[in-house]
Formats: sequence, C-alpha cells, structure tokens
Amino acid sequence: MMQSNGESEKRALTVRTQTIHAGAAPLGHGQALGGEIVQSSVYGFREPADASARREAGLPIYARDHFPSQRSLETAIAELEGAESAHVTPSGMAAIALTALALLTSGDRVIIGADGYCDTEELFLTEFPRLGIETTVVDLTDLAAVEAALRPTTRLVLAETITNPGMRVPDLAALAALLRPRGILLAVDNTFATPVLCRPLALGADLVIHSVTKFLGGHHDLVAGAVAGPAELVRRISRSGYFFGRLPGSFDAWLALRGLRTLAARMAWICPSAETVATFLAGHPAVRAVRYPGLRDAPDAEVVRRQLSDGAGGVLVFDLDGDRSTATQFMRDLRLIPYAGTLGGVESTICYPPVRDAVGAPPDVGSLRLSVGLEAPEDLIADLAGALANVRAGIQ
Ligand SMILES: Cc1ncc(COP(=O)(O)O)c(C=O)c1O
Repeated sequence: MMQSNGESEKRALTVRTQTIHAGAAPLGHGQALGGEIVQSSVYGFREPADASARREAGLPIYARDHFPSQRSLETAIAELEGAESAHVTPSGMAAIALTALALLTSGDRVIIGADGYCDTEELFLTEFPRLGIETTVVDLTDLAAVEAALRPTTRLVLAETITNPGMRVPDLAALAALLRPRGILLAVDNTFATPVLCRPLALGADLVIHSVTKFLGGHHDLVAGAVAGPAELVRRISRSGYFFGRLPGSFDAWLALRGLRTLAARMAWICPSAETVATFLAGHPAVRAVRYPGLRDAPDAEVVRRQLSDGAGGVLVFDLDGDRSTATQFMRDLRLIPYAGTLGGVESTICYPPVRDAVGAPPDVGSLRLSVGLEAPEDLIADLAGALANVRAGIQ
C-alpha cells in the first residue's frame, strides 16, 4: 500500500506508477525493495501460544495459510484492478475453478463466452456437470443472445476481455448493466488485456480473473493465477480454496510481482508492435484473414475504442492461405519466433489457436496464434515475411 501525503491524496496514481509501487511495503520501514521470499512451509516456536499470537497478528505461521510474497502480489493485483481484495492461485485455471467452486452450487447455471479459452470451456462443460452445475456457451458480443440464454437459476457469466482465440471483445459495461439488476455475477478473465489496458471492475464486473502466467508475469518463468473483487467474495473464494490447493509457491509469487513491475512498460511496446505486425499480415497475399481487435475493421472496433483505448493487447490470430500443414511448415520456417503453447511473454511465441481436446481433431485450416513480445517489430516482420514467402511459393 502506498503511503500518502497531502499532495498524493489529491490525485490517483497512473497505472504506470501503480505497476511499480503496488503491493510494496510502506516507505520508511527498512523494507526489502526487491521483496521477500520465505522458502519455508512453516514457522517454529517454543510456546504454542506464540504461534497463536503470531497468527492473530496476521503474520504467517504455515504456508498454506499465507506467506509474504503471496500477500504482496495479492495487494499489487488488487490495487491494479481497483479491487478491494485479490487472491492468488497456483494457475489461471485454478483461479477460474476455485472461483466457480466457491460461488456455485448444484442446480446453478453458468454462461461462458463462445470463442474463449478451451480449458475453461472443458472445465465448465465436462467437469462441473458432475456437480450439478450446467453451462451454456453464448456469444457474449451478442447481448440479445445473452439475455435469451438467461434462466432463473443463472448465477454467473464468465467473459474474457479479449477472447482466446476468437479475439472478440464483449461490451463489459453493457453486460454488467444487463446482469447486475438480475443479481447475476459477471466475472471477467482479463488475461489478454491486463489492468494496464482494461479494468473490468470499473466497468461493472463483479470479479476479475487472471492467468498471471501470461502478461502479468510476462517472462515465461512461472505459472500462477489470480481473482480480484469485493473483499467478501474474494474471502469466500480464498476460504473455500484453502481446502483445494489454493496458493502458488513463494518463489513463483515473487517472480510474478517482479514481472508485474514492468507490465505497463511492456504493454507500451507490445501493443503498437502487435498492431504493426497485424497490419503487415493483413496486407500480405499469403494471409487470408487477421483477427486483432486493434485493426480498424475488427468486428468489435466500436467497443474496442471505448474499452481498450490504450491498446488492443499483444495477441493476434491469422489464417494462412493453406491448411494445418501449411501452418506447421510456416512455424518451422521461422527463425526468431518459437512454437510455444502460451502467450504474454517478453519473447514472441506462436502456436495453433487452442481448441478443446474433447471436440476431436483440430480444424484443418492454416490458423496460427501469435503473441507479440518485446522484439523490434521490424525484426518480427522480417521473420514472418521470410516464412510467408515459402507459403506463397507453395514450398511445403
Ligand atoms: C484467457 C486465459 N485464461 C486462463 C488461462 C489459464 O491459465 P493457466 O495456464 O495459468 O492455468 C489461459 C491460458 O492460456 C488463458 O489464455
């Protein structure tokens, strides 16, 4: 938490400054500026009463309860998302699963977005029905379709700020306006946009979820997740998660906070690079289509202008003029950009757009998902152009 003085109380910090200071100890306490890693599962005492006193003072005694780097990361994510509270988890999927487990019960219904993350879809469509929780997949950019899908037992709608891999951008304020009067929770997976580009809670969402593994961590070196929102909801998720394995390791939490410090700086490079690369691909004869929300003719361009006014993120999906084997050869021909089934790191990465295993063989199309990193866009374009020349020449 930042210490305030008369001047700083008058104005809110910019998100750029928040990424640097959020979650740090107040000034003047001789704090470790690099943050703390306590690599211990437990603290030892001679007197059991001392352990109780320490716990009552809010200090850690057992790592499944809490530990310093986790708490710092939670404070930072809460501040960045403008939330009362945040809870960090061992992965993004854990954040989604623990949120659902804590808030839903048998007989409840959920709506998740179409074109969204395949593992989220699989979790809701194949795991939760066993618990009596049914899910409908709906295009969340179509408010009439959402309204038509609502039932008296609908309890939660889970949206993605930018869908993975559909690259669609639902109007979060409009969704919140539809759901809130009906008492239906809106949770938003903000992994692709990050709080630097979009703050779903300010638009009326109830909860915001992250795969911290991606842009927040930003360096392909950890797996973690987070959920942020009102203290009471987050407390319920955290308490229920206590029994399900709710926390990342202390080193991963520390790495995540270290990564977070450069989030605004990274997004400031990544977004314009991604737009440049998307524009290049859109104009290339060997590319059939490009899906990047920042392109002027993107299907949700009007929502993007309002909701992602500082940039449309670092991920884009494009279709080569060919089939899946064309896409495979294209990736082999790249020199700089590795195939990797992830996104949001300092290195650009490329992969097939993720699809659910359960739906069988992936479609035989030349689609690829590119996550633009911090390399100079001209170097990325040169790499892509080299591999595209082979697609054009039919060298497969
Ligand atoms: C939008 C989105 N949400 C959640 C996840 C799951 O995150 P994790 O891999 O940290 O469990 C991913 C992973 O790719 C994702 O893209």
